Amino acid sequence: MAVNIAIFISGRGSNMESLLRKSEEAGLDIKFTVVSDNADAEGLRIAEKMGVKTIFLENCANGWKLTEENAVSIESLIRENRISRVFLAGFMRIIPESLIKKHPLMFVNIHPSLLPSFKGKEAQKDAFEYGVKVSGCTVHFVDEGVDTGPIIMQKSVDISDCTNTDEVKSVILETEHLLYFQAMRMLLEKNFSVEGRRVIFGN
Ligand code: GRF
Repeated sequence: MAVNIAIFISGRGSNMESLLRKSEEAGLDIKFTVVSDNADAEGLRIAEKMGVKTIFLENCANGWKLTEENAVSIESLIRENRISRVFLAGFMRIIPESLIKKHPLMFVNIHPSLLPSFKGKEAQKDAFEYGVKVSGCTVHFVDEGVDTGPIIMQKSVDISDCTNTDEVKSVILETEHLLYFQAMRMLLEKNFSVEGRRVIFGN
């Protein structure tokens, strides 16, 4: 039976597209729903063209915090579409604490740095300006904090040859596309437990 997975996006949606395409190529039995807080998100158009169901999350107030009303809408879309996991892919809003408490381990995010270094919205810029030679990306469960949840997978990226933030973004993004799909597949196919902060995969 197909697994129902939602991908939440706000913009370009290249991670979303990579998850959709790689799942199709791998023949995974997944029914995707793409959700956006932004009706003009490029990623929504891409998903529509690929024949994937899309939902526009209405009434998102300005700013990055979602309201309790938004939480109710997300709750009902999870229920109505029988969503078993939500992958945030460039979704620029904070998931309300009430939802995280109600659905622990439901929300997964990808962040463009090796957490806990360079949390926040400007991860690649911060890494470049700090002068680190190695950065990378992290797939993690979403908890009540920002970029603080238990780490599922990480991959390092050599950024020593990058001469500006855009180059850092683009080399890390290539790895994000690979890592997010690997992580999604691991979560689908393997047993795992979360012991404290540690995500431990079994068979
Ligand atoms: C990615 O770098 C992701 O790690 C970050 O936002 C960016 C989204 O890019 N959270 P895209 O919309 O998936 O192309």
